[in-house]
Amino acid sequence: MCGIVGYVGQRSALDVVMGGLRRLEYRGYDSGGVALVHEGTIVSAKKAGKLVNLDAELEARPLPVAHTGIGHTRWATHGAPNDRNAHPHLDQTGRIAVVHNGIIENFATLRAALEASGHELLSETDTEIVAHLLHDELEHTDDLPEAVRAVCRKLEGAFTLVICDAAKPDVVVGARRNSPLVVGRGDGENFLGSDVAAFIEFTRDAIELGQDQVVTITPDDIVVTDFDGNPAETKEYHVDWDVSAAEKGGYDWFMLKEIAEQPQAVADTLLGRHSADGRLQLDEMRLSDSELRDVDRIIIVACGTAAYAGLVAKYAIEHWTRIPCEVELASEFRYRDPIIDRSTLVVSISQSGETMDTLMAVRYARQQKARVLSICNTNGSTIPRESDAVIYTHAGPEIAVASTKGFLAQIVACYLLALYLAQVKGTKYGDEISDIIADIQQIPAAVQRMLDDGDQMRKLAADLAGSRSILFLGRHAGYPVALEGALKLKELAYIHAEGFAAGELKHGPIALIEEGLPVFVVVPPKGRDQLQEKTVSSIQEIRARGARTIVLAEDGDEDVVPYADHLVRLPKVPTLLQPLVAVVPLQIFASEFASVLGHDVDQPRNLAKSVTVE
Ligand code: F6R
Repeated sequence: MCGIVGYVGQRSALDVVMGGLRRLEYRGYDSGGVALVHEGTIVSAKKAGKLVNLDAELEARPLPVAHTGIGHTRWATHGAPNDRNAHPHLDQTGRIAVVHNGIIENFATLRAALEASGHELLSETDTEIVAHLLHDELEHTDDLPEAVRAVCRKLEGAFTLVICDAAKPDVVVGARRNSPLVVGRGDGENFLGSDVAAFIEFTRDAIELGQDQVVTITPDDIVVTDFDGNPAETKEYHVDWDVSAAEKGGYDWFMLKEIAEQPQAVADTLLGRHSADGRLQLDEMRLSDSELRDVDRIIIVACGTAAYAGLVAKYAIEHWTRIPCEVELASEFRYRDPIIDRSTLVVSISQSGETMDTLMAVRYARQQKARVLSICNTNGSTIPRESDAVIYTHAGPEIAVASTKGFLAQIVACYLLALYLAQVKGTKYGDEISDIIADIQQIPAAVQRMLDDGDQMRKLAADLAGSRSILFLGRHAGYPVALEGALKLKELAYIHAEGFAAGELKHGPIALIEEGLPVFVVVPPKGRDQLQEKTVSSIQEIRARGARTIVLAEDGDEDVVPYADHLVRLPKVPTLLQPLVAVVPLQIFASEFASVLGHDVDQPRNLAKSVTVE
């Protein structure tokens, strides 16, 4: 939420900052702005709306060439998304420019004190107070990092701040508490960014910043301290993807590229994590076998699509490990006084590794002495850093706001965890694990087939684009797929969409069925607990009441044929793996539906990737 960039070096700071903002725009697109240090002054431009508006402003009113700059793309919290509230914010003398991500919780008190002492604030944001507080600090010291530290000590809440000072060419200072900020190490130039995509075009050498740290970058130096000025330890890492991964590569939308990358995301997440004899090897599993043998309960905490990945995984985790597993929305978890102890394994799932609700759940779980393992797609992000162990998904950067390849990779990582626990606990042995791994290894090809068959979904989306409501039904592991199909459609097409457990239909939702209402039904493979037969009965019930049925059923399932207005064939895979293929047509459907309606598929209204506020 909110993308931040800072640059010092020899290049045009405006070009670097705008390039970085374009790659971070998925984090927020309510407004954009830049500030540059030019000949002892701050020059800036900002504009409400997407970055194209800022581009137009910069074309109409070009800024001079400068080599030190900061930029921001906003997801509004305090104050409407207009030009005035757009970042950067300046102090009253125009010496200091600040961009910010997060929420400063004590801003009302600080603002009142500033106004009482004669400061005139121009915006409704919590950010502007930082520029004014810095102005006051710089009356006592000429040391910008020290002034930033002094201000940070006064702030409560979550914040990443990036600051430049007209009096300090070649210096940009950043600070972070609870919101993300990474440093890019260049040669004669250095970078700051909300994530590495901001500077991946120029360097793949990055430095993680810890909690409550202040970083000062100059072209040749990077200095990190805590908020009291003590030198801080940092961790350097090399980013294992390059700029092409953060570009559209010929697709109209990032989301389409990311849907197409799913076979690779699954294969890469599996890669190198098991040996031929069926033994799982998870390098970042920092919990010992004896600690894992202690685990008697698993609680998965996550939000949105990641929580649905957890719901899918629950079936496999309980089936393979016989350890009870609950899935809880991270935003609810810590407020219900959950019963957890040292033998509880809390598994957080987060693509970004920065989602505030999930981070808070992780912190709460650790305070309660639970062991925490994170499944995450973003190296160096806060959640894995604060967890006892991590399993990284290797999906590559996910830029479209709606998660797709992240979801598949999360399910696969959960399955690896489940098999690892089964291996440690002895509920599954080498051969059985090898067989399951062999089945998962078939998934990239099965997903590829769903991609190759995508035209069927694209045609259907064009056909149904006038619908105002669409329902999704599933059973067993297909139930979370129904929830995910509905979420994708809600967030991209802005229509009513709801997922139900097919068995729940008769307990209420069937009242929604009316003539012509499109209903997707995910049919489980035949052979397990009569799930398939029961789902076919549900299809008959809704069709009898006029629903237009879109049935997703495996090859060879002829029972569904008489009741399917549209039949989507799925490759035969084991029941627990079916979600990995069944969700793909639903992703294609939602993206195409939104596209036909003329919506922005990558940046749906009101949303942002990486939700760093609670
Ligand atoms: C929906 C979507 C969101 C995220 C959720 C958690 O398409 O992308 O529901 O899944 O905000 O995000 P992460 O996984 O980054 O914690």
